[in-house]
Amino acid sequence: MKRWVIGNWKMHLNLAEAMTLAQSIAKFAPDFSHLNIAIAPSLPYLVPIREALKFTPPNFFLASQVVSQWEEGAYTGDVAATQLKKIVSHCLVGHSERRRFHHESGAVVAAQIRALLSVGITPIVCFGEVEKAERSGVTSQITRDLSQDLHGLTNKEIAACLFAYEPLWAISSQKNAQPAEPDYITQIVQTIKVWFRDNYGSEVVILYGGSVTQDNAGALGGLVIIDGVLVGGASIRGKEFHTICTQFAHIVR
Ligand code: PGA
Repeated sequence: MKRWVIGNWKMHLNLAEAMTLAQSIAKFAPDFSHLNIAIAPSLPYLVPIREALKFTPPNFFLASQVVSQWEEGAYTGDVAATQLKKIVSHCLVGHSERRRFHHESGAVVAAQIRALLSVGITPIVCFGEVEKAERSGVTSQITRDLSQDLHGLTNKEIAACLFAYEPLWAISSQKNAQPAEPDYITQIVQTIKVWFRDNYGSEVVILYGGSVTQDNAGALGGLVIIDGVLVGGASIRGKEFHTICTQFAHIVR
């Protein structure tokens, strides 16, 4: 299975910068044919990028950062999954910044996942603990939260999602953020993968996210348990994003 390197551009870049970056990533993507590479630019840039990159390499994907929990209607500012269809193949849901600043609950995340799957867009479901704590406490908090995010979904639907383990305390926008240690990531992701297998009968894809940079990508790339990385801040620096892809391309599983 190909590993993923996904860039979450958050609310960064102007249109010209976004176009240039998207084009340069699409250009180098074929050099990493055994990786899947995706970018999640701001909403207004999705259509121009999609149009400019009509013939994208098969391992290059466009993702949205947001989707509405509702199908259609009077929801000012929301964007429906049906409206994203044909523009993106993937969409982030449950990101800690959406949960924190937009109060998106587990029930909202579950509705967003359902909406996306119903139109054939793959959800990238972000989860992770808010604070550093004992490992057993962390995994029980994560599984409790995930049970809400996945409430009402079938095993088949769950297996169709990608997941990203992003401990909030490791995300670079947090004060004193530090990337999680490789051993710690391995233990958590291993436990969560077993939990998925036991509870949903699914082998799921789990990426790691939180202060991934060119400096730690080598160590993260060496962790065979993770199926890739979700990169925030470093993903808007084209050269650095390329270096991160290089580090992940070293290990073919
Ligand atoms: P970061 O962000 O790489 O800047 O820590 C990751 C994310 O929020 O997805």
